[in-house]
Amino acid sequence: MKTVSILNHKGGVGKTTLTGCTAQALALTGFRVLAVDNDSQHNLSTMLGTGVCEPTIRDAYINSETEAPQQFLHAVRKTEIENLHIITSSRYLRDSDVPNDCHLQRVVDKCDPGRFYDYMLIDNAPGLDRLQESAINASDEIFVPTELKQFAVNGITEMEQILKDRFPDGPHITKIIPNYYRDTKRHNSFIAALNSLFPGRITSTAIPIDRVFDELIIEGKILFLHRLYSKGAAYYLKLIHELFNLDEEEAWERMMEKRKERISDEARERYYRQRNSEEREQQ
Ligand SMILES: Nc1ncnc2c1ncn2[C@@H]1O[C@H](COP(=O)(O)OP(=O)(O)O)[C@@H](O)[C@H]1O
Ligand SMILES: [Mg+2]
Repeated sequence: MKTVSILNHKGGVGKTTLTGCTAQALALTGFRVLAVDNDSQHNLSTMLGTGVCEPTIRDAYINSETEAPQQFLHAVRKTEIENLHIITSSRYLRDSDVPNDCHLQRVVDKCDPGRFYDYMLIDNAPGLDRLQESAINASDEIFVPTELKQFAVNGITEMEQILKDRFPDGPHITKIIPNYYRDTKRHNSFIAALNSLFPGRITSTAIPIDRVFDELIIEGKILFLHRLYSKGAAYYLKLIHELFNLDEEEAWERMMEKRKERISDEARERYYRQRNSEEREQQ
C-alpha cells in the first residue's frame, strides 16, 4: 500500500478536490482506496458523500495506542463507489488531540490497512501543525497542489525547508500540481519558475479553472460518472496517469462502462419511483 498526504500550508488551493477526485478515479479503475479526512472542516467527508460518521479520525487520535487501532478500523465507511472507503473527520478535531506526531503512524502500522487497500490518501487542513505532522509521518509521499501566484511559489520553497528540518528522514514532496491554470503568460512563467525550483516534480498536467468542481460539491455528483465529458475530468485523468502511472485510455474505458451502468441504474430507479407514485394515485 502506498500512503500519500495531500498538503499545502495554504487553504483553498485544491487539496480536498485533488484528494477526492484522485481517490474516486483510482477506485473507479479498480484500485482499493482508503481516503482519510484529516481536516476538521470535513470537506472530503462531504465531497465523498458520507458526511461525518462516528467514530471519526479524531477517535484514532484521542485513544491510547492500544485502543486507537480498533477505533481506526471502526471508523472506516463505504462510499457510493465500490472500493472507495473513507475515514471521516469531526469538527471537534484539534491539534491538541494529537498525543505525539508518531501516534497515527503507529496506529496505522498496527491496523495494517495494506491488507485491504492499494492506496491511502490523506487530505489535510491548511497549515503545518501537529495534525499535518502526524499525517506526514504516516505517509510515503507528499503531493502539493498549488495556485499560480508568487506567494504560493515562495510558500512551497518554505514548506520544503520546514519539512527537511522537521522530518530529515521523512517523506518528500514528490509531486507539485499546478491548479487553477489559465494559458496566460503570467501562469506559464510561474510554471517555468516552479520547474526550475523543483525540477522533475511539477506535473506536466496543470488543472485548468473549471466551474465543474464547484457544481459537483453543490449537486453531490461524481466527476468521472456525472461529468466525464468535462474539461476538469479530462485533465484529472491525465493528471492521475502522471501521479499513479495509470493507463489513461484504460481508465477512460472503465469509467465509460461505470458511467453507463450508473445511467441505466438511475433510469431504472426513476421508472420504479414514477410507477409507484402512479399506482398510489390510482388507489
Ligand atoms: N481547478 C479548479 N477550478 C475551479 N475551481 C476549483 C478548482 N479546484 C478546486 N476548485 C474549487 O476551489 C475551492 C477550494 O478547493 P478545495 O479543494 O476545497 O481547496 P483546499 O482543500 O485546499 O482548501 C472549492 O470550491 C473547489 O470546488
Ligand atoms: Mg480542504
